[in-house]
Amino acid sequence: MRNPLSEKIVSIPPSGIRKFFDIVSEMEGAISLGVGEPDFETPWHIREEGIYSLEKGRTFYTSNAGLKELKIEICKYLQRRCNVAYDYNTEVTVTVGGSEAIDIALRAMLDPGDEVLIPQPSYVSYVPCTVLADGVPVVIELEEKDQFKLTKEKLLEKITPKTKILVLPFPNNPTGAVMTREDLAEIVPVIIENDLFVISDEIYSELTYNGDHVTIASFPGMKERTILINGFSKSYAMTGWRLGYAAGPAEILKQMIKIHQFAIMCAPTTSQYAAVSALRDGDEDVRTMRESYNQRRRYLMNAFEEMGLDCFEPHGAFYMFPSIKRFGMTSDEFATRLLKEEKVAVVPGTAFGDSGEGFLRISYAYSLEDLKRALARIENFIKRLDGKA
Ligand SMILES: Cc1ncc(COP(=O)(O)O)c(C=O)c1O
Repeated sequence: MRNPLSEKIVSIPPSGIRKFFDIVSEMEGAISLGVGEPDFETPWHIREEGIYSLEKGRTFYTSNAGLKELKIEICKYLQRRCNVAYDYNTEVTVTVGGSEAIDIALRAMLDPGDEVLIPQPSYVSYVPCTVLADGVPVVIELEEKDQFKLTKEKLLEKITPKTKILVLPFPNNPTGAVMTREDLAEIVPVIIENDLFVISDEIYSELTYNGDHVTIASFPGMKERTILINGFSKSYAMTGWRLGYAAGPAEILKQMIKIHQFAIMCAPTTSQYAAVSALRDGDEDVRTMRESYNQRRRYLMNAFEEMGLDCFEPHGAFYMFPSIKRFGMTSDEFATRLLKEEKVAVVPGTAFGDSGEGFLRISYAYSLEDLKRALARIENFIKRLDGKA
């Protein structure tokens, strides 16, 4: 039999995040601070709307781009929270999570050999999705000295005549870094002068702790070259509902919807009805969850400082990204030993790109109780490394 597999897919390694969780699930008494998923249940009024839609027998496909009511609510939300006006009919599509939106945006825009700038550390799907779309990923290595923001200099360094897209992953997973209005204003002229398009992954837009999120699409001249991606997983604790969306220029959206139509048909109908309720009546839920994350974030900042774990202050998402450089171990060694010796699972920074070496991703989408228990163990581990225990 000949090889049934595509060389392209075989050459892509699986996500480095999962490795540790497979071990944790088999280890008694282990605590995981590894998963990037809200610990809250979906707010009840949203679940109720999903249940109601099933009771009403709304069990059919929706139109490919999504329910009209939902697209209208998405546009209202983007106007209200991000100050950008989109036409629900031509400039928005509902997707299966932000994940699908990233994939189809890349596939709709890339020709073979086009280069995609991907700042790292960042979410694990941008590089493989670029490769699958026949693009060439070009990594921009972000640094702690810049608070893991994308600077104008770093952007300019990697632009070539083949560069077509910049992925803008802020608020960032795994670093928690945020790009403020001033930070974005620095890079906007570079993007416009070099005629680049932006895929702005704003899935954590509601989780910012030092002022409201600003989208690059709101800058003059940027809406027409930005695909804004967002979703319900993180802000409304709806990971399992698999719902997200993309907003952008009609010309690009039309092609994205074509891929979506052939590969997916439509996002889950029940989830779409529930999401209408999330956008109409969910502001208070989002606020409550944000406050809770913020409380945990502050708690961890203080605790890290007390135990001598260097960490820059993250202003977004629900991750801390402490440096372990002073211990003279790789991120993978540190995370492996921490799991074996103290039964605490965290993700090595290198799962998010080589520039994550020397760091760990610690998720605070866990109860304060779990965080406290895990921190006591991390403190023991560090004391041992420091020869104090
Ligand atoms: C930065 C980022 N983008 C996109 C996603 C995909 O989320 P979903 O497909 O659940 O909307 C995630 C999930 O962890 C993420 O961290």
